Amino acid sequence: MPFQIDSFDAYLKAQKESQSDPELFWSGIAKHFEWQKPFTEVLSGEMRDGSVRWFADGQINITENALDRHLKERGEQIALQWEPNDPSATSRSFTYRELHEAVSQFGNALRSLGVKKGERIVLYMPMVPELAIAVLACARIGAIHSVVFAGFSAQALSDRIEDAQAAMVITADEGMRGAKTVPLKSTVDEALKENTSVRNVIVKRVTSGKCTMVQKRDVWWEDVIENSGDESHCTPEIMNAEDMLFILYTSGSTGKPKGVVHTHGGYTVYAGYSFANVFQCQPGDVYWCSADIGWITGHTYIVYGPLLQGGTTVMFEGIPTYPDPGRYWAICEKYKVTQFYTAPTAIRALMACGDEHVERHNLETLRVLGSVGEPINEEAWHWYHQKVGQSKCPIVDTWWQTETGGIMISGLGNLSPQKPAHAGYPLPGIHPVLVDPQGTPIHANEKEGLLCIESPWPSMIRTTYGDHERCLNTYFRPFPGRYFTGDGAKRDKDGMYRVIGRVDDVINVSGHRFGTAEIESAINQTSGVIESAVVGCEHEIKGQGIYAFVICERAYEGSEALKMRSAIEAQVVLGIGKIARPDRIQIVEGLPKTRSGKIMRRILRKIASGDYERFGDTSTLLDPSVVAGIVDQARHLQSREQ
Ligand code: WT7
Repeated sequence: MPFQIDSFDAYLKAQKESQSDPELFWSGIAKHFEWQKPFTEVLSGEMRDGSVRWFADGQINITENALDRHLKERGEQIALQWEPNDPSATSRSFTYRELHEAVSQFGNALRSLGVKKGERIVLYMPMVPELAIAVLACARIGAIHSVVFAGFSAQALSDRIEDAQAAMVITADEGMRGAKTVPLKSTVDEALKENTSVRNVIVKRVTSGKCTMVQKRDVWWEDVIENSGDESHCTPEIMNAEDMLFILYTSGSTGKPKGVVHTHGGYTVYAGYSFANVFQCQPGDVYWCSADIGWITGHTYIVYGPLLQGGTTVMFEGIPTYPDPGRYWAICEKYKVTQFYTAPTAIRALMACGDEHVERHNLETLRVLGSVGEPINEEAWHWYHQKVGQSKCPIVDTWWQTETGGIMISGLGNLSPQKPAHAGYPLPGIHPVLVDPQGTPIHANEKEGLLCIESPWPSMIRTTYGDHERCLNTYFRPFPGRYFTGDGAKRDKDGMYRVIGRVDDVINVSGHRFGTAEIESAINQTSGVIESAVVGCEHEIKGQGIYAFVICERAYEGSEALKMRSAIEAQVVLGIGKIARPDRIQIVEGLPKTRSGKIMRRILRKIASGDYERFGDTSTLLDPSVVAGIVDQARHLQSREQ
């Protein structure tokens, strides 16, 4: 079975083989990597009871595959190219040899601080090379990394540290994003106020280095490296294929965010395989993914995937509009980027800034453009295709999730047929199915259904950290024998998939995932608030915005209402972070509830989208007049804004 697919026919053949003999197919792919001990078992356990295991008797350390394996052939090739926030600051690059050395040094440093295999380390860092180095160093010594996006609040960070029972936090004094600096160390201090699990905090100096250091607990990055000796070799930990590699927290429809767990063996195989084929990366290519390493996209397609393939991965510290909206294209030109991967929200934001910012850059080297995070609308697709790709680059619209570990449905470079706003066909080895709410498969095309995955794949979620029941209930029990994605999708007449969006109470704001329940629980902590209901609403740039309906203790007028709304906003920023700040807050007198006390979100979604009439069957509502009240008020608010 060839690892690299080079034609659509080869794709069809691979897909067929993966269907008729999945174990033979995946063992062929897995043998492309270096194993500390070869596996004899390929697939064990089953989806029915959420017990799937891959290559379970094999041993493999992902970093030997991402780093050591390349030293001989491409030791002097650039592995990591870092571009600073400030375009006039010095960029930094690491060859495979240098990256191997930096990771080894930091791995030794972690060991010298007593970090043991299996311990959890939380990373709360800006997009500097040390973040990638720390991720890889954890994996090197078998510590389980859990990266928390640096835009989350102290409260959200603290929740994650507690859930993971982390032994260490790695952070920076501050981060730089556009014209702003983001405090990080002080946020960590705040998050650790009541913590008892964290022994040390390692701090990388990124800005002034001015921050309070707690004696005995806090150490500077440079100092730990110095004290661990300058040995540039760090023996990789022997890892069983099913040992945990990382935990990444993501939102669900209920409760607090859950820790999605991925393991060394299966994740290595699928991160490497999907990267090589979707982006059609060849040696010498310069690939850039503009995501943050705090999300799964950054894990799989900034750090692991490109390095497993021996590519050059670009890492950018800043934001798309700083110092001007041409920044992304300036970076593509500067490094002669060949594959570029970004999110529809960024494309829409840049599209709104005008074509001149793209047109003044030479984008000749681009060969493949990627999109991820949410459905890409046709307008943005065409702009991306014509203006950025100069109508010659295919767009790979990649559908996947934190839980899937890697891209599941997408074109493969220029090999696959493409259609705007369609993710297209599944990757080889991936077998999606659409089902109706009763779980009956929908075989006919041009029908909508709930998207499930029929057979196991190597990088699928293994568990939700510390709560396996939750994993079973969310993904494996809704449709026994299948993995349930939480998305609705449609297949067109040619069998190409279009993923429409979430069918649960998860909203996708600028490609970032939030549970409505999680935002509501933050809102409800505002003093004076009794109850709230959050739904997604259409948003021109973000895809979806956050619309909150809130019941307060009493009625507020004018400036008082304004104050209340800012208090609610502040509470969400405190509980989750700025990225979850509601776009609209409507203070209401009541919520549309059924006689059994359930909020009819369907009605609120309609109101939030400006549809004030077609509410469907409302006969189960306890008090239908509540709806009329909310609608009147929404109309009034809207007319005032226009
Ligand atoms: C949800 C997963 C893994 C990438 C980053 C987001 C939506 C993601 C697409 C796409 C339509 C998409 C889905 C999915 N989504 N990519 N190409 N087309 N929808 O990861 O935070 O785990 O969110 O993002 O709704 O379930 P995530």
